[in-house]
Amino acid sequence: MGKEDVVVKTDEMSASRASGGRQVLRQPAEVLHAQELAHLRESDRDERPHGWTLSPRAVRAFILGTEAAKRSKSGPEPVRRKFYGDDPLVDRCIVTLMSNRGLLLVGEPGTAKSMLSELLAAAITGDSTLTIQGTAGTTEDQIKYSWNYALLLAEGPSTRALVPAPLYVGMKRGAVVRFEEITRVQPEIQDSLISVMSDKVIHVPELEGDDAVVFASKGFNVVATANIRDRGVHEMSSALKRRFNFETVRPIDDRALEIELVRRQTDELLAGAGIQVQLPPDVIDLLVTAFNDLRRGTTDEGIVIEKPAAVMSTAEAVAVGFAACLDAYYFGDRKLTGEHIGRQLIGTVLKDNADDGKKLAHYFDVVVKPRARRAGAWDSCLIARKGAPW
Ligand SMILES: Nc1ncnc2c1ncn2[C@@H]1O[C@H](COP(=O)(O)OP(=O)(O)OP(=O)(O)O)[C@@H](O)[C@H]1O
Ligand SMILES: [Mg+2]
Repeated sequence: MGKEDVVVKTDEMSASRASGGRQVLRQPAEVLHAQELAHLRESDRDERPHGWTLSPRAVRAFILGTEAAKRSKSGPEPVRRKFYGDDPLVDRCIVTLMSNRGLLLVGEPGTAKSMLSELLAAAITGDSTLTIQGTAGTTEDQIKYSWNYALLLAEGPSTRALVPAPLYVGMKRGAVVRFEEITRVQPEIQDSLISVMSDKVIHVPELEGDDAVVFASKGFNVVATANIRDRGVHEMSSALKRRFNFETVRPIDDRALEIELVRRQTDELLAGAGIQVQLPPDVIDLLVTAFNDLRRGTTDEGIVIEKPAAVMSTAEAVAVGFAACLDAYYFGDRKLTGEHIGRQLIGTVLKDNADDGKKLAHYFDVVVKPRARRAGAWDSCLIARKGAPW
């Protein structure tokens, strides 16, 4: 093994982190990073806004990490960076969530909008699971509250018969509620948020007295996400738009940063799967470079290529890296090669658009082939072209 090669340590504990004796495929951020959150809570000396479990500075440290900060050998473990690329964006998001407006993260698919909203909720509230998954079929019941009809018929309307949805719970608790893919929801249903966001109150007309009105506790706010590729924000009413501060999350444009991110997240996924794969740096470099070339439509050598319609996001790059590692582990000799990446790349680019196949074949011919003469990883990547379905 080369000196620079890294062997991922198997983390049996994290792989088998159980929930009620059951192994969970993916833990929420507050469970995954419970130690870091506990450490930040202990060392947090700054003022916390009402209802927040951490101060704004500690929320920022949780998301952007404290690795760069100098610490003594005996000092606490640094907190790992989780979001890369746009630090001022994170500050603006934190400030918005302290204000009386909601936060709407918009951007291309795979730019970590959902991840950022989860991290914000985990750090601010300690719970990222108060989440509404927006779809065309989302109803007001799924956002606010519904009823247990057996109890409703037997006893009439009561708080016992009320089934709270994330917004109701978040308002009562003073928590950050996540609204994923808000623009997929019918505009009339989206608009049920308008009064909630401005008056911070939910009316329950079926109940009487104090139970008929739920006032939001301090700490309540909404962080929503919207993907501009499929269904933009244009259908959102102006009234609702006014209740949100829009923040655009952009793809990472720094290659070195993207390499670090892909390497780290692949490492974490491998540790979670409980397997060890050698990740040679030149292969990770190849993966990120190929994604950059196809995303930008031009290469470092100045070759112009046609961009595929498929999304070439960092999230996809991580997914390709992890899948290639699984291929290397179960079908290869546990060392990642350019061929493993090439095989997964084909599956990522070739989705439903036949033209993307031609564009990728062209990329292999005019970019991968010349590079293959110079570098081993690219040479190995070229082998994948033979098995491609075009
Ligand atoms: N700037 C970034 N920092 C950290 N991870 C990133 C970044 N950009 C992309 N990623 C990758 O994206 C993954 C999360 O993607 P996520 O699902 O949050 O994207 P999204 O913007 O919500 O996409 P979609 O619009 O398709 O829902 C992360 O796990 C990480 O691998
Ligand atoms: Mg998302």
